[in-house]
Amino acid sequence: MGKLVIANNLTLTYENTPIIKSANFTINSGDFVFLTGISGSGKTTIIKSLYGELKPHSGSLRVGEFDLFNIKKSHLSLLRQHLGIVFQDFKLIPEWNILKNVMLPLLIAGINKKEAENLAIKYLNKVKLSHKADKFPAELSGGEQQRAAIARATIHNPVMILADEPISGLDEYSASLVMDLFKKANKLGITIIIASHSIPSAFDIEFRQLHIEKGKVYELS
Ligand SMILES: Nc1ncnc2c1ncn2[C@@H]1O[C@H](COP(=O)(O)OP(=O)(O)O)[C@@H](O)[C@H]1O
Ligand SMILES: [Mg+2]
Repeated sequence: MGKLVIANNLTLTYENTPIIKSANFTINSGDFVFLTGISGSGKTTIIKSLYGELKPHSGSLRVGEFDLFNIKKSHLSLLRQHLGIVFQDFKLIPEWNILKNVMLPLLIAGINKKEAENLAIKYLNKVKLSHKADKFPAELSGGEQQRAAIARATIHNPVMILADEPISGLDEYSASLVMDLFKKANKLGITIIIASHSIPSAFDIEFRQLHIEKGKVYELS
């Protein structure tokens, strides 16, 4: 399995305040990784760097073939087309119904509308939301919105899924649906990175844990 993410002496800052200091880690294709650390430790900061939202201050960061220190705008959108991103606050488009929200990555990829719609229905089924296809995000509970967001993040068969606290605050039913989907995606070879303050108990597949403490990233095992 090849290396998908390589961070070398990676330092991430906000206005010169270092959050991640000279981190070294690699993530291989097919890995299931929990990125842990207390609140404010820098989990979201690392996730943001991985999809090019936050440019490294120094050191190097490679994701796939892309060097995130020097990435061009056109390559950034290319990179993001290969990622599935799950945000803590869902980031569904409020003016679009759930079906269209889930179709979004396929529309970006230029897939025709009918085909995109059929696949979106299939993915809404997987997260037990087909009965909410024509509702708007504001009409769904938090757990349902997150499940729609997971369907959107997986529908285009991404190389890697980045999920920022995907189950915090979710009811047990939604949380287990969401984790199941991540496990299934991983079995299909999709690399998964989940930022989470803790690892779900009795987590039953092989995983790695990268732990952030005082700006340093450690591999725990
Ligand atoms: N946009 C920002 N500007 C300045 N500081 C920020 C910004 N975003 C986060 N921080 C700070 O960076 C640190 C790490 O934040 P974050 O990565 O969100 O932590 P976590 O996701 O682990 O809770 C925190 O101290 C936070 O206050
Ligand atoms: Mg966070």
